[in-house]
Amino acid sequence: MIRVKKIAHAVYEVPDVEKQTEYYTEILGLTVTGKDKDAVYLASTVDHHSVVLRKGSAAQCTRVGFQIGPDDDLDAFERQVRGHGVKTSRQKDPEPTISDLLAFEDPKGTAMEVFKREAFSGQRFPTKGIVPHKLGHVAFHVTDVKHVTKFYCDVLGFRESDWMADFFSFLRCGPDHHTINLMETGSNRHFHTAFELRDWAHLQTACDYLSLNGYKLIWGPGRHGIGHNLFAYHRSPAGLITETFAELDRMNEDLGYFEPRPWHRDNPQKPKVWAKDPGASNLWGIMPTDEMHK
Ligand SMILES: [Fe+2]
Repeated sequence: MIRVKKIAHAVYEVPDVEKQTEYYTEILGLTVTGKDKDAVYLASTVDHHSVVLRKGSAAQCTRVGFQIGPDDDLDAFERQVRGHGVKTSRQKDPEPTISDLLAFEDPKGTAMEVFKREAFSGQRFPTKGIVPHKLGHVAFHVTDVKHVTKFYCDVLGFRESDWMADFFSFLRCGPDHHTINLMETGSNRHFHTAFELRDWAHLQTACDYLSLNGYKLIWGPGRHGIGHNLFAYHRSPAGLITETFAELDRMNEDLGYFEPRPWHRDNPQKPKVWAKDPGASNLWGIMPTDEMHK
């Protein structure tokens, strides 16, 4: 099968595009790489855009983009998707630097945008804001976690990294422990979007910078059990939750375990089902606030 190789971008509808753009540039430190009448494109590193903002009545994540490899065949990938009974469409030049895009919906109604990256565009190192390395993962609330997880694995080629009991899956499409995570809660909606920072010192600077600009943490800092990433969560102006993280587990696919770290409890740390235990959420002990579940 052909597997997607990386998360490329996430597309959000927000009522106030200007305010959310200001947050992404001034606070997170992304770079505006393009604007058209419908959309603002924001980037961190080599991709023309990691985040796209469009005007909509409610704040929501409407699409997620994924790259296939340079030698992968998008036509063959489309046949693979259709083989699962999923309707697809193709769009020519729908977004800057994407000339041929395959679109279809996942079972919870989020649009999947799969393409081959043809053009790279290097961004300069921004002089203000948090400046993350990259878009790390997008997490969703879902009504049927088993069904949606199976879709990501069977149709897009994701692998299961870990589960929390039977209600929270963590899925990877590359070495990073998770790119998509799905938590069964009774609704289908965005949970949080996570950006990777350099290290613990960068996370500290980010928390201070957020605080100085009026953004309060809603959970963290802490260290997740599942994925072992250092984390801190806050809410963007549109109300969508942003996670900043560092030290996420990375899989050695040939050996079948995550790169060993002194904070691991399993040696080696392999994909597994974790008990619904406080340590799975935060090894340092503080549980999520109610604000995380809104
Ligand atoms: Fe996360």
